[in-house]
Amino acid sequence: MLRVAVCVSGGGTNLQAIIDAVESGKIRNTQLVRVISNKHGAYALERAAKAGIEGVTVAKKDFADTESFQKALLAAIDEAKPDLIVLAGFLVVLPQELVAKYKGKIINIHPSLIPSFCGDGFYGLKVHEAALARGVKVTGATVHFVDEGTDTGPIIAQKAVYVQEGDTPEVLQRRVMEEAEWVLLPQVIDQIANGQL
Ligand code: GAR
Repeated sequence: MLRVAVCVSGGGTNLQAIIDAVESGKIRNTQLVRVISNKHGAYALERAAKAGIEGVTVAKKDFADTESFQKALLAAIDEAKPDLIVLAGFLVVLPQELVAKYKGKIINIHPSLIPSFCGDGFYGLKVHEAALARGVKVTGATVHFVDEGTDTGPIIAQKAVYVQEGDTPEVLQRRVMEEAEWVLLPQVIDQIANGQL
């Protein structure tokens, strides 16, 4: 069984897609051992609780400085003894110590076709605002390994999604989630859990 810890910051629709895929058997040989949020009251934590997964909050505002926050984050991950860490809408720059310790064992979902619309400042709705402002006709989502940079790690999988006439950032975000993110992320976890990657 692959032990998976999922890190979240918000609504947790990607977390839900993972939970559903584990329950339906689309993700095989996987146990979701802990959900870690950096926001108190994130809806993702409710999703975890409903699925019987332990939820833990490590919020920066509860710590005196960045160093102690990062230490607590690393401890929350270590305690879960994960084989894989999934960043599913986790809007925190990971401490270098964590990245080094779990190199090759951390994956992230990003809502664009990397290398477009990624890097510092590109997260959530901002990504889709930028894609529409540039006038691209195709966007999508990327799952990649996490390295020391922001969205710079090796790409594992990508899925394209067409932009449609009249799209707002919210409408485009939803389509990218439905057609790409909620499909790709469970697929990649299943591949990792079953030695296909
Ligand atoms: C998702 O669209 C995810 O790709 C994005 O945040 C959203 C979280 O939604 N992540 C990033 O932008 C990372 N740079 P969710 O909480 O409903 O899964």
